[in-house]
Amino acid sequence: MSTETLEWPKNYNEIPKAAFTRKDIYSEEIKRIFHGKEWHPIAHESEVPEPGDFKTVRLTGIPLLIARDEKGEVRVFYNACSHRGNQLETAVMGNKTEFECPYHRWLFDTNGDLVGCPNPREFVPGFDKADYPLAQPRFDSFYGLIFVTFSNETEPLDEYLGDSSETLRELMGGDGRLKLLGYQKVRYDTNWKSYSDNDGYHAPLLHQAFKMLNWQGGKGRQFAVTERGHVCFESALSVASGPSVLKDSELIAFKGQDPSVGSRIVMLFPTFVSTKHLDVINLRFATPIDEETTEVHYAYFAHEDDDEEMVRHRLRQSSNLLGPCGLISMEDASIFHRIHVGNHTPGNAIFQKGVRDPSKLESEFLQNDESGNLPRWEYYRSVMGFERATA
Ligand code: FES
Ligand SMILES: [Fe+2]
Repeated sequence: MSTETLEWPKNYNEIPKAAFTRKDIYSEEIKRIFHGKEWHPIAHESEVPEPGDFKTVRLTGIPLLIARDEKGEVRVFYNACSHRGNQLETAVMGNKTEFECPYHRWLFDTNGDLVGCPNPREFVPGFDKADYPLAQPRFDSFYGLIFVTFSNETEPLDEYLGDSSETLRELMGGDGRLKLLGYQKVRYDTNWKSYSDNDGYHAPLLHQAFKMLNWQGGKGRQFAVTERGHVCFESALSVASGPSVLKDSELIAFKGQDPSVGSRIVMLFPTFVSTKHLDVINLRFATPIDEETTEVHYAYFAHEDDDEEMVRHRLRQSSNLLGPCGLISMEDASIFHRIHVGNHTPGNAIFQKGVRDPSKLESEFLQNDESGNLPRWEYYRSVMGFERATA
């Protein structure tokens, strides 16, 4: 693709709608962003708590196998046999001591080492099993959150996370000692950028539950908006007041420690969203499927130190509050799709809330500004090589 074929508007608050719909731009995004110099969260170690536990995912089509080995270390492999490349494991998750490729029965242990293969005497002279372990992408973890990158040039993970790391740690219970509660997996009919462009402006306006419960957002801020497009939100929890429409108000109860920062969101470029709201700990692993489909795995967690009652509370609150059909998030799916339909029209999408001067990129944002998304757009534009118009 020639990136010159899409002229980027002069103003920082305008985004060309064609960027959401063009197939050639999508292919270029895969190369420059998803297989470029970014880290992508794919799992939390607590999803594979025991030796032999594994989980498989596909990230922009690339099959990955996350497995805990016999010694308890979590590793990430390409989920493809080192012989002819057959997809090795097809289960979404499970526990195995060995992975056997069904095609010619090559056998791998949880370290990824090739431990058996039929007829090796008839192989190329000098064949050595040690030369054929499962291949691995570069990976690293942050308080148990596992990231991969497909570029050797990506900076170390702690540099990549920058100022967002502290909020991310807090959001994962302060120490990352989590316990998996379960998943919801959805495909949204939208471009990945519309999914990750959800903003601070819409929440009390789109989501009906805020009105039904007479629930005002607590005071908060948007910060650590980095040049790499990451952004953090922190806010106090307010208690819903007025006549309750809920038969069971436990759904919106807060049982945690500190309501002054009871709500935290960390969004990492390009598609990762993580939320701690009331007692929900939710990590959303997302990948584009094509230019108009985005798959999101909502993973919900408790903390290892929770007692049984707290685990039950979190379990009930998780998807009911913040899942794809959750009380305060269900309308998002409809908007993700409708904005994608609307983007098949000429012109630009325009940001207003919080934009003081469209000719400048700002770095300070209020909780309900939509302008906090603009540094991410500027990073996107520069990675994609789109030239900004001068007049
Ligand atoms: S492709 Fe796996 S054993 Fe041949
Ligand atoms: Fe929303």
